[in-house]
Amino acid sequence: MATISIYGAGQLGNSTAELLRKVPDHVVYGPFRRDERNKALNSGADLVIIATTTKFRDVVNDIRQAVEHGSHVLVSSEECAFPWAVDSVLADELDRLALANKVSIAGCGVNPGLIFDSLVLTLLGAAPRGCTIAVRRTVNISGFGATVLRRIGVGKTLQAFQDAVAREEILGHAGFPQSMAVVASAMGLKIERIEKELLPILTEDKIDLPGRFPVAKSESAGVNQTYTAFVDGKPWFTSHFYGHVDLPGIDKSAMDEIELSLNGKTFQTIQLKPGIGSQVGSQNMVANSVVRILKARDGWVTTADLQPAYPENFRN
Ligand SMILES: NC(=O)c1ccc[n+]([C@@H]2O[C@H](COP(=O)([O-])OP(=O)(O)OC[C@H]3O[C@@H](n4cnc5c(N)ncnc54)[C@H](OP(=O)(O)O)[C@@H]3O)[C@@H](O)[C@H]2O)c1
Repeated sequence: MATISIYGAGQLGNSTAELLRKVPDHVVYGPFRRDERNKALNSGADLVIIATTTKFRDVVNDIRQAVEHGSHVLVSSEECAFPWAVDSVLADELDRLALANKVSIAGCGVNPGLIFDSLVLTLLGAAPRGCTIAVRRTVNISGFGATVLRRIGVGKTLQAFQDAVAREEILGHAGFPQSMAVVASAMGLKIERIEKELLPILTEDKIDLPGRFPVAKSESAGVNQTYTAFVDGKPWFTSHFYGHVDLPGIDKSAMDEIELSLNGKTFQTIQLKPGIGSQVGSQNMVANSVVRILKARDGWVTTADLQPAYPENFRN
């Protein structure tokens, strides 16, 4: 039996709790709201799932508290897929804390967590040395709540979008440097720099997002984002993310594609059609990661260290 405590009573926390409650071997506490923080983090459950927000610095005290109470931690924060990319001192400190408490911590999801990292590593297993990588994801982002949509950059005029990007209030979809770092670190490569482009996709028609906010004509209804990581002075890994709240309205379909190239020529391409849904994919990935995190080595682990996630009957 595994006991699981869930902190964060938003979309992911609620949907994951619902999935896990259907597994007879699991006992689920929560999901807990902000004002129930201590109940969630001091529970001493086998696993604490933190499904609150995106930045490492905003979840670090929650992770620390859960680890100090003896729990393994799964955190959906995108930056936690590879926290060394934002704060290596703090990441090392949490790694040592997890080792001392004989538990594991992992950042898990789909993006980051699967498409731009563990799926890439899996495909590289059957590819020759020296491949470059391009991952392209076209995503329907209409299912996100208002907070996540605002953070991605939906609902802004061009000028307001650019100003908010400069203030780092708009991040686009977060986690691409982390995914690239997971792959590079596993392969023993050193990323020299990452170039970023984050552009708004302005809508020609007003779009209603029931229960959230309307997107007016000429405001951003999505983002077009590209990250390019350089190794040995050359582009090594390019991540493309095209997220929109009304893909059918602009004649696009959700799709995920990974292309490996060798010496400038395509070696192999795989496509997932339709692409993995943001909500359904993430809630399944988190729910299906319980056992692999309980089985993982102690310390802060990445998806490159973990066995694949799959629905598994719990075994002691
Ligand atoms: N890696 C991945 O693939 C992946 C997949 C899905 C989601 N995520 C990330 O996981 C997080 C949760 O996603 P979601 O869709 O559930 O978001 P959501 O619907 O906005 O829910 C977030 C919940 O956490 C609470 N919260 C926000 N910031 C908090 C903080 N600093 N401390 C405590 N509670 C806080 C919110 O409370 P209030 O309503 O009071 O603000 C809300 O109840 C987001 O950052 C999202 O980007 C990652």
